[in-house]
Amino acid sequence: MKIPLASVLLTSVMALDDGLARTPPMGWMSWERFLCNVDCDTYPDSCISENLYKRTADLMASEGYLDAGYDQVNIDDCWSTLKRDPVTNEQVADPNRFPSGIKNLAAYVHDKGLKLGLYSDIGTKTCGGYIGMQDNLELDANTFASWDIDMLKVDGCYQDTDMMKDTYPELSRALNATGRPIVYSCSWPAYLPEFGEANDGEVLKELAEICHMWRNWDDIRDDWGSVSSVIDYWKRNTTEDIFVSVAGPGHWNDPDQLMIGDNGLSHSQERSQFALWAIFAAPLFMSNDLAHISKESKEILLNKEIIAVDQDPAGHQGILNWSSEGNGDGDVYGGETRVWSRLLNDGSYAVVLQSTHSMGTQTKVKFESSMLDGWEVGQKFVARDLYLHEDIGEFDGEMVADVWPGDVEMFIVDLV
Ligand code: GLA
Repeated sequence: MKIPLASVLLTSVMALDDGLARTPPMGWMSWERFLCNVDCDTYPDSCISENLYKRTADLMASEGYLDAGYDQVNIDDCWSTLKRDPVTNEQVADPNRFPSGIKNLAAYVHDKGLKLGLYSDIGTKTCGGYIGMQDNLELDANTFASWDIDMLKVDGCYQDTDMMKDTYPELSRALNATGRPIVYSCSWPAYLPEFGEANDGEVLKELAEICHMWRNWDDIRDDWGSVSSVIDYWKRNTTEDIFVSVAGPGHWNDPDQLMIGDNGLSHSQERSQFALWAIFAAPLFMSNDLAHISKESKEILLNKEIIAVDQDPAGHQGILNWSSEGNGDGDVYGGETRVWSRLLNDGSYAVVLQSTHSMGTQTKVKFESSMLDGWEVGQKFVARDLYLHEDIGEFDGEMVADVWPGDVEMFIVDLV
């Protein structure tokens, strides 16, 4: 195996050197599937309550998700009361839905070998209207640390975006000062014009120094239109793109939750989301009901070879190398074909061949060695299929896959 020059030249631009999130965090988050349902009388199994997180933690530990790397159980919005404690001014978990409190829930989750994540908002209220952190950053950081949480997602509703350049870094300092390792997920760029890309990504460079991951772009929903729009947003053609170069160990772009195991995506579309999130070096947070998930969806989520791509220690985010549209073939039958790649730590590449067609049968998608940074025309390579879990042979400069509409095929390719 030859190490391509590109791997030597690619270095991450920034580093948050606190040892956390050296690979993209993985776990489960309640938001997309369970939203802000606080009616536990009518919906005892799906309301935002300690029971939901305990049940999920049990299943993550017993059904193989923890073994595969999903080690976070994350509470999202709507866990608190609507007002702070009148005496201590601290945030308080809703006593009816979280009767044991967050600290005891953290102990329960930790006993299973998992970590607990919590959600709050840098503004006066959360997006769902619950308690926000504005003017209480230090107090809340201390409260959350005293509850033994391991991750904090901090949303950006109800705050003037001009304030965020001060408040997000201030909270980073407050969290560090607690002495507890807490993965800090910032939604700051999601609230900015151009999602933080303006001014040569000045905000993104700063984010990489203070946050372990950050949301940009829209909230994902359980339908292919939404998932495709996220994928389209991450069609970056060069490793010099600011969004690509800013990602790396300790600081990741977050294209939002996995919809795998929910109701809105076909099997092909679920395969596509998983393969592409691995190309994006994305945090992998499922938002599904692990008590009700098909065998096929579970198999995708537990695909260890694709997880290994996502978790590759070099942490390079992948790019779109080629698309039929970009090459003048236009939109054929409601879609295009694409070749994506991600350089891995050992010099090999993960490659995804995608068809975004929405009708027809399989399309032939051709991968050519010269599409990759550092590879030339006609180079001999070997390939392994990550969905079939098979080595598929040696190739002379090119390889063609038959890809179903809305589907992908995923490979590792390595020079001979
Ligand atoms: C915003 C975020 C979502 C979720 C909700 C909660 O919309 O982007 O991920 O946290 O708020 O209200």
